Amino acid sequence: MPIVGVIGAGLIGRSWAMVFARAGWRVKVTDSSADARRAAPRLLRQALFDQAKHGLVRQPAAVLKRIQVVADLEQAVAGADFVQECGPEKRATKRRLFRALDRATPTHAVIASSSSAIVASEFTEALAGRARCLIAHPVNPPHLVPVVELCGAPWTAPAVLARARRVYQGIGQVPITVWREIEGFILNRMQGALLAEAFRLVGRGYVSPVDLDNTIRHGLGLRWSFMGPFETIELNAPGGVADYCARYIGFYKRLARHPAGPDVYGAANAKKILAAWRGVPAHRHGAKTRWRDARLAALVTHKRGQKGFEG
Ligand SMILES: NC(=O)c1ccc[n+]([C@@H]2O[C@H](COP(=O)([O-])OP(=O)(O)OC[C@H]3O[C@@H](n4cnc5c(N)ncnc54)[C@H](O)[C@@H]3O)[C@@H](O)[C@H]2O)c1
Repeated sequence: MPIVGVIGAGLIGRSWAMVFARAGWRVKVTDSSADARRAAPRLLRQALFDQAKHGLVRQPAAVLKRIQVVADLEQAVAGADFVQECGPEKRATKRRLFRALDRATPTHAVIASSSSAIVASEFTEALAGRARCLIAHPVNPPHLVPVVELCGAPWTAPAVLARARRVYQGIGQVPITVWREIEGFILNRMQGALLAEAFRLVGRGYVSPVDLDNTIRHGLGLRWSFMGPFETIELNAPGGVADYCARYIGFYKRLARHPAGPDVYGAANAKKILAAWRGVPAHRHGAKTRWRDARLAALVTHKRGQKGFEG
């Protein structure tokens, strides 16, 4: 049974632990916080039994048994074949963690970071084992959203990237390869473009936050759950992508001349958005997160029963 060491037992670490354990891996997870280590088994049990209700996990108790919470990083990576780092999104912490990981992890193992925006070259350059390090950026929560962005530093060995790709495919994820480092990788750059425009449109009073969300929830998002933007425009003109560009690109060019700038995130605009936003109170976040996960699990189950277009 292959072994993965998971560093950090927060949102992403616990979720990765379930992804690997579901696929038959033995998981050793640790966290520097004793509270996080103590809370992890209960949270993992709850999430695994929730997934079982949707048919995404067959034997939740057996999966849970494959996950062991250990006291420190050295124990987590002892004998590991793969490491998934899920510590805080801070450059200095990643640097410290990777120094310790490179020292303690068996030399044959790949070391992947879940980092959302910090590229691997910013915290692996000085390591003896830098060729085995890469970013494997998931989407929250990876046990329900399968895409994972793989991005090496300039010194990451191509064989390591290929091996990581096989590992993630093998555990049921959908890896995409980012060919060279770029801040935000692909997913958060796409999300950032959308979010900046959302902040601009709501902040300048063109639409309410609820109707902005409805535009995605009941509009673009329906297609996006099974097609990307290129596939979308392919079908939005009779002659495909080239025809779409001929018809509509003039409009998009005009829009692109005035992109939403950093000011949309400034204090004045944020205040306007917060005043218009009716979110759930903090004590209901947990309940809303479970609701989201149940909806995602149902969507994942639905997607598993559907065929892709075979052209
Ligand atoms: N939350 C998201 O939407 C999301 C999505 C994709 C990627 N990520 C990335 O995943 C990583 C983890 O994010 P998260 O959302 O799970 O954060 P989180 O705050 O829920 O969890 C981080 C955990 O790391 C622990 N930790 C801190 N220092 C540590 C150390 N030295 N050793 C071991 N554990 C340590 C903390 O106690 C905490 O439990 C970050 O790099 C983040 O950018 C987050």
